[in-house]
Amino acid sequence: GPNQATNATTASAPKNKGGLEGIVAATTAISKVEGNTGRLIYRGYNIHDLARTTIFEEVVHLLWFGHLPSQQELTNLQQRFAAERTIPENVMVALRALPTSTEPMDALRTAVSAWGAVAIKGQPTVDQAIALTARFPLFLAAFNRLRHGQEPLESKPELGHAANYLYLLTGEVPSEEHVQGLNAYLVLLADHGMNASTFTARIVASTESDIASSIVAAIGALKGPLHGGAPSKVQDMLHEIGTPENADSWIRDAITTGKKLMGFGHRVYKTTDPRAEELREMARVADPQGFVFTRRVEELAISILEELKPGRRLYTNVEYYSAALMASVGLSGDLFTPTFAVSRVGGWTAHVLEQAGNNRLIRPEAEYTGSTDLAFKPLNER
Ligand code: ACO
Repeated sequence: GPNQATNATTASAPKNKGGLEGIVAATTAISKVEGNTGRLIYRGYNIHDLARTTIFEEVVHLLWFGHLPSQQELTNLQQRFAAERTIPENVMVALRALPTSTEPMDALRTAVSAWGAVAIKGQPTVDQAIALTARFPLFLAAFNRLRHGQEPLESKPELGHAANYLYLLTGEVPSEEHVQGLNAYLVLLADHGMNASTFTARIVASTESDIASSIVAAIGALKGPLHGGAPSKVQDMLHEIGTPENADSWIRDAITTGKKLMGFGHRVYKTTDPRAEELREMARVADPQGFVFTRRVEELAISILEELKPGRRLYTNVEYYSAALMASVGLSGDLFTPTFAVSRVGGWTAHVLEQAGNNRLIRPEAEYTGSTDLAFKPLNER
């Protein structure tokens, strides 16, 4: 009868480890991550060739248009960026309405959403990608000043993207050293295959939603500590370790009690992350004193991980030295993750455009582990 379940099954253990590990979820010509050799390629170019020789604007041109810009193309793009450096009134109202205790990452997500509400109509375009990427530093710096009781500043059109960001934060034209450091960071983080936030952006784009919605969703994905939320936690960890003498026992204790070391491990890289190599060299120059300790903890952790988790192949990821580099250019810890977004929005928007240009709805399946065919009882019988 209808109340009798003849072939009811109970929940079963999943066969699948989860996390879509090793699954090809899209085709892309934007970037390639080679996990076993530790290579990162942006549209054909090795990241080591781009890291300290190009500026962020050149790299986003490469990601959006598929080729490195000529001088004329670069100048045009820089002028476009400068022309977009405005914050609509509704975004300022939204930012002013946030409590000063709001995390800058949440303020950025709110600002992009408010901006999308007035600035974005229709299918994603490269003009929208430029308009949005140009504004990330403005949104962040405006909120950063508001939360410290200061009024936001006007951009300086003669400054590049990295320099203008630092200027808007501090009100001072930054040193060439700081601009170069931040710029290299922005170049290194701009794209990275099918990472969680990029995949998120592509899923939203695949429903034929708008670019602002894609980017709001991507910011949400980047925020977590397993993705972009780790660098300030790296800083916290290093503070907690405190001294070189303390490092060995602290690391052993963390690993044996099942804590994860922040800034270590990666889903794809089974060797050193090439971005970590670049950032390590920059951190060495930017803060030679602090570097000695950070490097010591890295070396110790790798050897202890090898000892306690043999065969795991855990190395530092991009977040480990990001913390040191960003601190050295004067950013506070809670600006590290949103500054990652200032860079990655270049990649996100490139992926949204690529997805929209050759779209099919992204809609995977799930392995169901619940019961089936249970006998239904009306409310008064339960
Ligand atoms: N410290 C200690 N052990 C680790 C670490 C770590 N940082 N990372 C992984 N392991 C161990 C795991 O405990 C697991 O061991 P087990 O099989 O004995 O349980 C094994 O290595 C495999 O780890 P998974 O969690 O399956 O690896 P996954 O690919 O799912 O996770 C991730 C990758 C999230 C980056 C992970 O290494 C991690 O949490 N790292 C710390 C946080 C961090 O640095 N996040 C920024 C990542 S950079 C970016 O943007 C993706």
